[in-house]
Amino acid sequence: MSESVPVVRSVAALRTAVAEARRSGRGVALVPTMGALHEGHLSLCRIAAAGGRFVIVSIFVNPAQFAAGEDLATYPRNEADDVAKLAAGTTTQLVYAPAAGEMYPDGFATTVIPKGVAEGLETDFRPHFFAGVATIVTKLLTQVAPDVAVFGEKDYQQLQVIKQLVRDLNLAVEIAPGPTVREPDGLALSSRNAYLDSRARKIAGSLNVIMRETGVAVASGAGIDDALAKGGSELSKAGFDSIDYLEIRDPSTLRPVTDRASPKRILAAVRIAKTRLIDNMAV
Ligand code: PAJ
Repeated sequence: MSESVPVVRSVAALRTAVAEARRSGRGVALVPTMGALHEGHLSLCRIAAAGGRFVIVSIFVNPAQFAAGEDLATYPRNEADDVAKLAAGTTTQLVYAPAAGEMYPDGFATTVIPKGVAEGLETDFRPHFFAGVATIVTKLLTQVAPDVAVFGEKDYQQLQVIKQLVRDLNLAVEIAPGPTVREPDGLALSSRNAYLDSRARKIAGSLNVIMRETGVAVASGAGIDDALAKGGSELSKAGFDSIDYLEIRDPSTLRPVTDRASPKRILAAVRIAKTRLIDNMAV
């Protein structure tokens, strides 16, 4: 049995632990999560540990990034399992798992509202999402004050929003990206995959395949609009109930690309039954 990982729940206890790690001369890295940890999260913890850094994983299902009618109440929560996975599969030194009242005490009244790369894509369907994410990530980064914070490319627009936030607010932290970890059929790991029944799970596996084919078509000379239209109809044929978006964008500005030669990223959000899936990859 590997040793367990200590859990702190208050900003004060967190800061005491970080100060102690700093006194021992170690760098500090933060991996923010909402728990229900899977191999994708664990891969970020291993990236965070490079150079012997003291790794802190935050686990907080952030109410501010869920809209009414979304899955806040049913979002999978199992802290004991999460801590066991971190202990067995990573060198994480500390779990920070605050209660909602520690993050949003009575009187809390400040929101960070990102624009720029936060506009469009996810925001067209979840208008308040990135304000919720930017606010909680700003709080986590100022509470921990890490040297490095690691975010997955799985949530590609979120990663760009965080980079923009850190730049704009002069936060003294390096944002390190982690590649998307996938199932054998290419489905990106996600805590929300737990919602998929066996039929939906099968359909879900075709998302990455159709995205990749669409990207390959564009890379080999097809027009972007034509390729996206074909990709959209393939997704419907595969059994997805609706497509929030399927887009090809500039990888850093997330604006539409017109120039054939410029780098590109394909991004999608689709729904099967009550489950919303997102994915993205380089074209
Ligand atoms: P959550 O969905 O738990 O994801 C936590 C981190 O894990 C994010 O940086 C996400 O991009 C990364 N991740 C998720 N699936 C991954 C995969 N298959 N491969 C690699 N990395 C993956 O994203 C959030 O939480 C929240 O919005 C948060 C940033 C914690 C703010 O509340």
